[in-house]
Amino acid sequence: MISLSGARDPAPMAGRGTYNRSSCVQAAGSAPALPLLEHAAEVVPLASAPEAIVVADYGSSEGRNSLAPMAAAIRILRTRAGADRAISVVHTDVPGNDFTTLFQTLDQDPESYLRGDDAIFPSAVGRSFYGQILPSGSVTLGWTSWSLQWMSKIPGPIPDHVYADYSRNQDIRAAYRARSEDDWRSFLVARGRELRPGGRLVVLTVAVGDDGDIGYLPMLDVVYSAILDLVDEGFLAAAEAQHMVIPIVGRSRADFGAPFAETGRFAGLSIERMDVFLGADPLWEAFRSDGDATQYARGWAAFVGAAAVPTLALGLDGGRDDPRASLFPTKMAEHMTARFAADPRPTALPLGRITLVKDEA
Ligand SMILES: C[S@@+](CC[C@H](N)C(=O)[O-])C[C@H]1O[C@@H](n2cnc3c(N)ncnc32)[C@H](O)[C@@H]1O
Repeated sequence: MISLSGARDPAPMAGRGTYNRSSCVQAAGSAPALPLLEHAAEVVPLASAPEAIVVADYGSSEGRNSLAPMAAAIRILRTRAGADRAISVVHTDVPGNDFTTLFQTLDQDPESYLRGDDAIFPSAVGRSFYGQILPSGSVTLGWTSWSLQWMSKIPGPIPDHVYADYSRNQDIRAAYRARSEDDWRSFLVARGRELRPGGRLVVLTVAVGDDGDIGYLPMLDVVYSAILDLVDEGFLAAAEAQHMVIPIVGRSRADFGAPFAETGRFAGLSIERMDVFLGADPLWEAFRSDGDATQYARGWAAFVGAAAVPTLALGLDGGRDDPRASLFPTKMAEHMTARFAADPRPTALPLGRITLVKDEA
């Protein structure tokens, strides 16, 4: 019997620019949500000058993938509010996020939304978005991409996979699903407080397809197999492998809609638009055009290395302080790269895109 007590926090993404360099899959997946953000920026009620317009980016990581959505929103808000109107862009993430790289990205990236506009004021908040982190009624426009699938806590070990929905253990699947339901409600309650009347929030997150497909295979199978490789070679104990989990559960359209089911409203919010779609797989597309299995494999290994390996490493007996913690990412990368290269396949990436609107006053 697996104990599901003692839930832990997931780890932040890999820092020092690793996430920025290894997140082309996320950038491609978010692109179809940009038109929702642009539409929201066109119709959202704006506070009167001189009050700053606040745009919040929930779960920014190192910021590279925030540049395009923030620039798209700002372009429209600028046209509506005039050249001198102060726009405050607040990037939020967990306390351990690499905010230094975030600010360097804003300062130095040629695509930075700061270029040529002195009336934009970026800042950051290092607190979990499962609670209220910005003043009530202050946010005009919110954006969150590829972040809300991360659970507030790791519900517990998984005996036979890294991903709860691929476990054969019903109790585990139920515990992860219950956490995911609670997290979605907590997130909505907090944003319901932060948004201004009529404010909009655009969400892009991992979903379950309308056909019930959980997706994200073969990537997740490769991650689990690489962990078992490390058990086989004696680097990990079998018990440690069970504690190496990716605390993510995709949500179906029904899951997203559940809090709104009774009245159409929840926490002062309602759903303006929602659909589930399949994200592009740029690594597979590149492989199809150049046949380079090594590049394909390195791309997926880097994706997992940046986003999930820091959390998987928490399963080591000594956690972050375990003497093997510094070797673990390299060992995972070796095994994952070999496995991805041996069998390149397309990955189904079900994603949900949702626009939420706060009640008018
Ligand atoms: C996969 S990255 C997404 C980064 C970026 N938005 C993108 O689209 O590429 C997920 C981010 O969500 C953050 N995150 C996860 N749980 C969070 C929480 N409870 N509060 C704030 N940020 C969180 C992670 O730390 C990470 O930086």
